Amino acid sequence: MEFSFNLLQYFEKVVSQAAEKLESVDDSFEPQMRMADERFGDFQANGALPFAKRNGLNPRELAQSLVEKIESNDSWETSIAGPGFINFKLKPEFFLSWLKELGNLDKTKKHLLSESPRQIVLDFSGPNTAKQMHVGHIRSTIIGESLARLLALQGHSVIRDNHLGDWGTQFGILLYAIKRAEVSLDELGEEPVAVLEDLYRQGNSWVKESPQSLEEARQELVKLQSGDEQNCSLWQKIRDLSLGSFEQVYKLLGVRFDYAHGESFYRDQVEQVYSVLQKQGICTEDQGALVVFHPEHKRFAKQPFIIRKSDGASNYATTDLATIAYRKKEWNAEHIIYVTDGRQRDHFDQLFMTVKKWFIQENIDCPTLSHVWFGTILGEDNKAIKTRDGQPVKLMDLLKEAIDRAKKMVEEKNPELEEEEIQRRAKIIGLGAVRYADLSQDRTLDYVFSWDKMLALQGNTAPYLQYAVARIHSIFRKVGKTPSELPEVIISPESDNEKKLARKISFFPLAIEQTTKELKPHTLCVYLYELATEFSSFYNQEKVMVDDQNVQNLRLFLCAKTQIVLKLGLSVLGIDTLEEM
Ligand code: ARG
Repeated sequence: MEFSFNLLQYFEKVVSQAAEKLESVDDSFEPQMRMADERFGDFQANGALPFAKRNGLNPRELAQSLVEKIESNDSWETSIAGPGFINFKLKPEFFLSWLKELGNLDKTKKHLLSESPRQIVLDFSGPNTAKQMHVGHIRSTIIGESLARLLALQGHSVIRDNHLGDWGTQFGILLYAIKRAEVSLDELGEEPVAVLEDLYRQGNSWVKESPQSLEEARQELVKLQSGDEQNCSLWQKIRDLSLGSFEQVYKLLGVRFDYAHGESFYRDQVEQVYSVLQKQGICTEDQGALVVFHPEHKRFAKQPFIIRKSDGASNYATTDLATIAYRKKEWNAEHIIYVTDGRQRDHFDQLFMTVKKWFIQENIDCPTLSHVWFGTILGEDNKAIKTRDGQPVKLMDLLKEAIDRAKKMVEEKNPELEEEEIQRRAKIIGLGAVRYADLSQDRTLDYVFSWDKMLALQGNTAPYLQYAVARIHSIFRKVGKTPSELPEVIISPESDNEKKLARKISFFPLAIEQTTKELKPHTLCVYLYELATEFSSFYNQEKVMVDDQNVQNLRLFLCAKTQIVLKLGLSVLGIDTLEEM
C-alpha cells in the first residue's frame, strides 16, 4: 500500500482496505480514525461500532475480523479495545523510518503538498482609506497572512486581495472639509493620514452644525460619483496617501498583497448586479431600497440584505456581490476566504446565500465561500482596547512598542551586542510576540492583550518557541556540526523521552491538516507549543553529548527534526527565528 505521510490518513487507508476484503461490510463503512490516548496506542479506528449497530452485527466480532484482514506488518501492533475500537501502536522503528522520510526542509515541504491544489482568493486586512489602521485591523492582517502562507505551503495558488474600504459616503464629508479648510494634499507632512482623519472629524462637525454644509458635502459626493475631475483626483490622492501609510505596516510585518482592488474598483459593475438579481427575482423593492430576503432563513426572512439604498447609492453589499462575480470570472476562484471581525457575520451569511441563488440560476459553479471571523482584542480592563485618552490604539504605535519592549529584554540578556544586532533581534522577538499572542487564541474568542504575557519566555508564547529553536542551534554549535552533515542513524528511539518526541514530530502533518480544515491558526500553535514542551523535557533529561556515538547521532537527529518542524510551523505563522537568543 502506498505510504501516506499523514499518519491519520495512512491508517484510515489501512482500515478501509481491510474492510474492502470483508463481505459483511459495504461502502457505507467509515474507519473514523482518531489519535488515540498514548497509553493504549497511537491511532484508533472507531468505525466498527456505528457500522455494526446499523447492520445488526456484533461490533467486537466485526473489529476482530477487520484486524485479521489488516495486512500483517512488523511496524505496528493492533489490539481491540472497548466495544470494538481498533488500536494501532506504532513501534519505535516505524517512527524512525518516518522521521528519515521527513528529510530536510525542502523534502518536508514536498510531503505537505495537497493532492488537489485549488485557486483560492484570500480577502484580508481591508482597512478603510483616509483612516489610520488601528488595532482592530491587526487580527485580519495577521490571521490572513498566516492563512495565505498555510495554503500556499500546501501548493494552493493563493491570490491575496486587499479589499480596501475606499468608496463610500464618508468621501463627501472629507472632500467638503478639504475644500473648506483650503488644505493642499501635497503638504500634509509626515503623517498625512492622521491629518485626513482630523479633517474628516472637522467636516463631520461642520455638517452637523448646519444643513447647508450637509447639502454641500452631499454635492461633493455626487460630483465624485459622477466623475468630476477635481474630486476624482483628490480622491485618488487620498487613496494613494492611505495606501502608502498601510504599506509601512505591511512592510514591517512582512505582509504582502497581489491586489488592492478595493470597493472602488467595482463601482462600474454595480448596475450589472442590480439587473441580474432583478431579472432573477432574487431582490425586491422595499421602501425605495433594493433588498434581498431569504424566506428559508429564520432571521433573514425579515432582516433585509440591502443592496441599493433608497437614495439610489450602492453600498458595501453591492460591491461585495460584484466582487465575487469578478473573482469567479477573472481569477477562476474556487474558494474565497474573507477574514473580518465577527460583527460582520450577518453580512457574509446574507452575501453568501444571495450569491449561491444567483449562480445556480446562471448555471455557474459557485466557489466555496468561507467567512473566517474573529473576536475583539480587549485591554487589561476587559474592554475593547483603547489608548489612555480613549482613542483606538494605532497599529504602528503598537508594533513599535512591541519592538521597544523586546529590545529591553535583549539588552538585559546580552548587553555586549552591537546596536544593530540588538535591533534585529528585538524586531524578531517583538513582532513575533504580537503575532503569536493573536494567532494562539481561538480566533472566535475575544482575547486580552497583555505585554507581559506575550513576551514571557515561559508558557505558550512566541519567545518560548523561538528559544527552543535557538537552543537547538546552540546544541549544533557545540558539537561543531550542522544538521545536514549528521551520520546515518542506526538505532531507534528507545527512552521514553526519545519516543515521545519522535511521536510528536510525526503528528506535524496532522496539525497542518486540522488547521487548514478549520482555518484556525491556533491549532497549529497548540501543536508547536506541545512539540517545544516535549523537546524541552527530552533535552532536560537526556544528554545529547553522550559517549555512545549511536545514541548521540539519534539524539542529534531528533533535535534536527524538531527544529525543522518548529521553524516551518513558525514561518507559517509569519514568525522568524534566531540562531542565538
Ligand atoms: N473594509 C472592511 C472593514 O474595515 C473589510 C473588508 C472585508 N472584505 C470584504 N470583501 N468585505 O471592516
